[in-house]
Amino acid sequence: MAAQVFNTMPFSLLYHKYMIPVSNEVTSMVLSYVEEKTNGRPLDMALDVGCGTGRYTLPLAPHFKKVLGIDICDSQINVAKRYNTANNVSYMVASAERLPVENNSVDLVSSGLAAHFFTIDKFVNESVRVLKTNGCLAAHGYHPSSEIEYRDLSHGLNTVMSEMWDTLCQQAYTTGLSEAADHMLNQYHTIYETIDLKDKKWIKDIPVKYQMSISEIFGFARSLCTCQILLEKNEKEAKQLLAQTDKSVPFGLLTLLPATLHRPGKRMRDILGEEADSAQLNFYIKHYCVLACKH
Ligand SMILES: C[S@@+](CC[C@H](N)C(=O)[O-])C[C@H]1O[C@@H](n2cnc3c(N)ncnc32)[C@H](O)[C@@H]1O
Repeated sequence: MAAQVFNTMPFSLLYHKYMIPVSNEVTSMVLSYVEEKTNGRPLDMALDVGCGTGRYTLPLAPHFKKVLGIDICDSQINVAKRYNTANNVSYMVASAERLPVENNSVDLVSSGLAAHFFTIDKFVNESVRVLKTNGCLAAHGYHPSSEIEYRDLSHGLNTVMSEMWDTLCQQAYTTGLSEAADHMLNQYHTIYETIDLKDKKWIKDIPVKYQMSISEIFGFARSLCTCQILLEKNEKEAKQLLAQTDKSVPFGLLTLLPATLHRPGKRMRDILGEEADSAQLNFYIKHYCVLACKH
């Protein structure tokens, strides 16, 4: 299901533009772990699995001789090739359950915001197969919730956002994404438990702060695959409602969601009043990371 959603050029471009920015905290955490486990030896190869548009692939480039990003969707790979390139980075269409590299050839298998979509036992087995001795596996993601901080208006803004998260999570449970939702809600604890390596750790509740405008926050919501599924399901209703489009919302589409979401962009704009266009909100998203080393 997820793979189908990501596999159109318009959605990949939208994803590339609006998904929350890469977390430097998490990237540094992964790189420090690799450095510690490999004792500072030169690093030949990193594999970014479910690389999407290459947002987490490119930051690996300065640290490895070669980086390969793979994703099951060709539209994602095409956007990655267009926007996230470097001399030592390449991309190809391939699946997490069948990694296109040889045994014992990779220093880092990394996956950002994607492992919840994989068949986990196959992905983990494949990762262990391709890792060199002392090579590392890293899988990280974000919790589907947020905390907004903006002057004395935080409470109202958070109420709107948490209703929206609830609806999107419910959507995941009714459209074949329940396993993915479970993984995200338990901060990859099940994934951590599936990894049959002794040397592993699970880091949860990593606070990451973004400064975002309302449009960026709703752009982010719009780039979630559950939101895309909801929009596709309600296309008819959506078209009828087009006239009511709220200009603050990227692509005007979030306003077309069912009543449970009740025009969140408009509600947040109402709360912010005159500041709606200029406000930069502190937007906190919890991240988490599973790290393991093959000995
Ligand atoms: C939310 S995106 C994350 C993309 C990227 N890592 C990032 O941080 O922006 C999830 C990605 O996982 C990919 N994906 C889903 N199932 C996959 C699978 N079985 N094998 C490889 N990629 C997969 C999707 O096509 C999508 O690009």
